[in-house]
Amino acid sequence: MGTKADLEIATTTLAARGYLKLPVPTKDTIVFEIKRLKKEKNAVILAHYYQNKDIQELADYLGDSLYLAKIAAEVEADIIVFAGVHFMAETAKIINPTKKVVLPDLKAGCSLADSCPPADFKKFKEQYPEALVVTYINCSADIKALSDIVCTSSNAVQIIESIPKDKQIIFAPDKNLGRYLIKETGRDMILWEGSCIVHEAFSFEKIVTLFKEHPQAKFIAHPESESQVLDVAHYVGSTSGLLKFVQEDDATEFIVATEAGILHEMQKRAPHKTFIPAPVEDDTCACSECAFMKLNTLEKLYLCLEHELPEILLEENLMSQARLPIERMLEIG
Ligand code: 13P
Ligand code: SF4
Repeated sequence: MGTKADLEIATTTLAARGYLKLPVPTKDTIVFEIKRLKKEKNAVILAHYYQNKDIQELADYLGDSLYLAKIAAEVEADIIVFAGVHFMAETAKIINPTKKVVLPDLKAGCSLADSCPPADFKKFKEQYPEALVVTYINCSADIKALSDIVCTSSNAVQIIESIPKDKQIIFAPDKNLGRYLIKETGRDMILWEGSCIVHEAFSFEKIVTLFKEHPQAKFIAHPESESQVLDVAHYVGSTSGLLKFVQEDDATEFIVATEAGILHEMQKRAPHKTFIPAPVEDDTCACSECAFMKLNTLEKLYLCLEHELPEILLEENLMSQARLPIERMLEIG
């Protein structure tokens, strides 16, 4: 099996040979062509709720990180096209290593995963030799390999509560989710200071002002948001938790503090309700959109299926070390 470096070389070579300039089908036919290739190659498309809505509509499986990890573990098709970010595709490869996993754009990373460099985290961990390491799935394979158990925002409370009370816990890489979990579970955890640029962009003051203009609305937030934002939320939850809440709650208007891609599925599931994206600090940017997630496009999805590239390739040894904490998570929650 090749390494990440091999893959970079292969991708660069293809780019140099004009791969990236290859014609793609027109807007009218691209969906048909993707479906054709999918069938021809026995591939499935897994997509996160933060993807562009055209990709969400095409997906065989659409969901949050936990759901997609569970699906990836069970997929029988030969190829998994992961319409999400790198750590998600990497997780799919780790838990189902015999499958070919491709990501439409290899540069679709994650600021949160990048905020935890493995060498620094290793040193940090060494300061607490007795501690159990719980990591949020939004981290690299190298960080997972240094972990005891992985969690997602859907099962983090359950995972922390499954750990004996007298056990010291390191939680990484998201400090906001970590602080939220300390509050929810009453556990005093050692936190790595990482964060997500999208969820830290929300403006507390503007949310308060917006709420005054929409007093009937419920304010809901993803736990990667800062604590002052979470403190005023009517509901805090993962993307699937937020979706469930808006369907079941009596309110008809919601201010939503998470990546704006989720609004597409919310509107589909509750067409009679109104969803307002939470305002961000900087009015000049689309900060509530994850620029990494949005790197994936229908055109890149097509090219990725056609050429079965860029492929996620990892060292066997790294995969087996990173698999264990993911499997522990899947067993618990
Ligand atoms: P979910 O676990 O809710 O899918 O969140 C993933 C993510 O990247 C949030 O930024
Ligand atoms: Fe990473 Fe934040 Fe984008 Fe989620 S929204 S993939 S945590 S950068």
